[in-house]
Amino acid sequence: MTPQRAQLLARMGLAPLWRLRQAPDDDAAERAVEAEEASDAAESPVHDMAPDAGAAAPAAAMTLPAVAFDTSVAPMPEPKPAPDADDGSAWERLEREIRDCTACPLHRQRHQAVPGIGDRHPRWLVVGEGPGAEEDRRGEPFVGPAGQLLDAMLAAVGLSRQQGAFIANSVKCRPPGNRTPETDEIASCFPYLRRQVRLLAPRLIVAVGRPAAQALLNQPVRIADVRGRTFEFEGIPVIVTYHPAYLLRNPHDKGKAWEDLCRARALTRAAGP
Ligand code: URA
Ligand code: SF4
Repeated sequence: MTPQRAQLLARMGLAPLWRLRQAPDDDAAERAVEAEEASDAAESPVHDMAPDAGAAAPAAAMTLPAVAFDTSVAPMPEPKPAPDADDGSAWERLEREIRDCTACPLHRQRHQAVPGIGDRHPRWLVVGEGPGAEEDRRGEPFVGPAGQLLDAMLAAVGLSRQQGAFIANSVKCRPPGNRTPETDEIASCFPYLRRQVRLLAPRLIVAVGRPAAQALLNQPVRIADVRGRTFEFEGIPVIVTYHPAYLLRNPHDKGKAWEDLCRARALTRAAGP
């Protein structure tokens, strides 16, 4: 194992567990790690994100090691369910309004708006930036390579868009050419995100990337400055981490994102089962 890799695993508190789970003898474990290092991004991103996850293990069966990070943040109180939290017609109304919305210039070039998808009683609400070309075509968020990595990140903590997670964006319509959404576009779209938060009443909101963080913290931010902290939106804890598209371009920061996910998981654990 390279010293760099050893350092990463050690920092993540995963090294001994990796050995334990991969193989009974250290040599075989070493080979498993080398094999993973040798593989490129085309390999299972779950494996990439969670080095302790056995390559052959189905995502649902995956378990995580005890988290070694400092989780000294005070446990968050259970957010109160919104009065209309179970109201299917409120969802229908909201999604129809989003699909028909012309409140900002982004409506002009969209094929369709992308309201969001996932478990309507989620533990986590994940907020991304905005739909890309494929999302705009399919009407579903995070369907490209960044989406695959996001799914892998969620699977590594036992969540999926079917169960435990809802995925939305800071703007619901595709910014032309996949540019970053403007501050006033994020502001125009924000009431929809707020309504989603109220309907979903998640235990935690994970903002991935700057526009999502800007929307929820109501200020421009640098990810490096706000990661590792816990914010709050309407009584719900908010954490910020790197966008999966950024992580695909900067894989050396995956360890930090993994740390963030572990901290997020510890926060939601603290809030109850
Ligand atoms: N797809 C989305 O829906 N949002 C992003 O931020 C990136 C890709
Ligand atoms: Fe409306 Fe949001 Fe689409 Fe702008 S991005 S048109 S505010 S739904």
